[in-house]
Amino acid sequence: MKKQELTISFTEFESENELSKEEQQLLQKARAASDLAYAPYSNFHVGAALLLENGVIVSGNNQENVAYPSGLCAERVAIYAAGATYPDIKIKAIAVTCKSTQFHVSEPLSPCGACRQAISEYEMRYKSNIKMILAGETGKIRVIDSMADLLPFAFKAEELKKNR
Ligand code: THU
Repeated sequence: MKKQELTISFTEFESENELSKEEQQLLQKARAASDLAYAPYSNFHVGAALLLENGVIVSGNNQENVAYPSGLCAERVAIYAAGATYPDIKIKAIAVTCKSTQFHVSEPLSPCGACRQAISEYEMRYKSNIKMILAGETGKIRVIDSMADLLPFAFKAEELKKNR
């Protein structure tokens, strides 16, 4: 038996103003995307904005469905839009934010497991880390350098191979 440990590192900022101009701009795009979310069932509006290596920003927001599981999170709407429109262009960073019509969100959003796996795929596809910038409506901002830190045991393509 061997007990093992993993540590992750992340940075917290007290306010948006402490981010770089590029990060602030990305977060603003994520906020604008959250305003356009379609979330009539949860009333929880999430926006994501991806910065590509070519400077393009691709946004997305959660799209809900009356058959609840048919809906999709903002992060996957955005990353699949980027994959569909700009294949082979690396994704440098993703800003994600949320707000509710029922309560105030003062903590950074924590992406769901499925979105972590989906984002992880693009880190592996482009062999390049994706910086995560996570925010609530107000409060601290959490920045993580790579999705691998948020999902250390991601399911990987090697696991589908016989002789690994
Ligand atoms: N949601 C996202 O868009 N991203 C997340 O990381 C967590 C949850 C959405 C899904 C659903 O439309 C609503 O938030 C409530 O779960």
